[in-house]
Amino acid sequence: MLTSAKEMLNKAREGKYAVGQFNINNLEWTKAVLLTAQENNSPVILGVSEGAGKYMTGYKTVAAMVKAMIEELNITVPVALHLDHGSYEGAKKCIEAGFSSIMFDGSHYPIAENIEKTKELVAITNAKGLSLEAEVGSIGGEEDGVVGKGEVADANECKQIAELGVTMLAAGIGNIHGKYPANWAGLDFDALAKIEEAVGTEMPLVLHGGTGIPEDMIKKAISLGVAKINVNTECQLSFQEATRKYIEAGKDLEGKGFDPRKLLAPGFEAIKATVKEKMELFGSVNKA
Ligand code: 13P
Repeated sequence: MLTSAKEMLNKAREGKYAVGQFNINNLEWTKAVLLTAQENNSPVILGVSEGAGKYMTGYKTVAAMVKAMIEELNITVPVALHLDHGSYEGAKKCIEAGFSSIMFDGSHYPIAENIEKTKELVAITNAKGLSLEAEVGSIGGEEDGVVGKGEVADANECKQIAELGVTMLAAGIGNIHGKYPANWAGLDFDALAKIEEAVGTEMPLVLHGGTGIPEDMIKKAISLGVAKINVNTECQLSFQEATRKYIEAGKDLEGKGFDPRKLLAPGFEAIKATVKEKMELFGSVNKA
């Protein structure tokens, strides 16, 4: 069932667990995430970066594929189709294409401009019953061309953005897209506690850069208000490792092992295993 992320995240915030956002790249990714959510009776968010949207030929293709797949696979758990790190223009395009949830990443603008643009999008998404994620501070590293310095969010700015009526708020707390460097200082829980205090205990907070964050930090973040956790790189790495094994074992050379449905199958299963592991860790299993 395609739905906004509002209800699933409010329930997660209240129940002290988190819903995973898993970024999709193609049909295999989408099918793997949807089937795993259904098998585990978990709500789920499909994340689409602007780069991945372009790769899949455009947001209309993505929305049509996801809607048809939900129907053909009989997916009954709540599914949100969410633009990840959207620009103002990208947000408008996804709303038109039929996405059920939008992230407007105005974190690189001065705060006044971030507020102004987020406010406009709150009005548009509210009128259409869509959920909206905003960002304050920034996520370090790079994802599909979106580069961040990793500034820790200011609690007062978080409060100003939260008060606009956004559904969920991504705040930089030392998290990074992609693999964490060996000398990573870890999540800034003091900053997170201040942000939770400033925005109130009902606002679902979003933790980007979910790949490679140790379990104890994930659990602590959830206890401090994180109700949505984004995972992208980890599924890519699982897919890559399983595909490499298949090729290196020469399986593509045996019989009809070159058939794309066979060639992509180990990677597909590996994505499913990663998504299941995350759903268990985040506590969203049987919360649909
Ligand atoms: P990772 O690629 O580090 O898992 O981050 C995903 C993310 O935050 C998507 O916005």
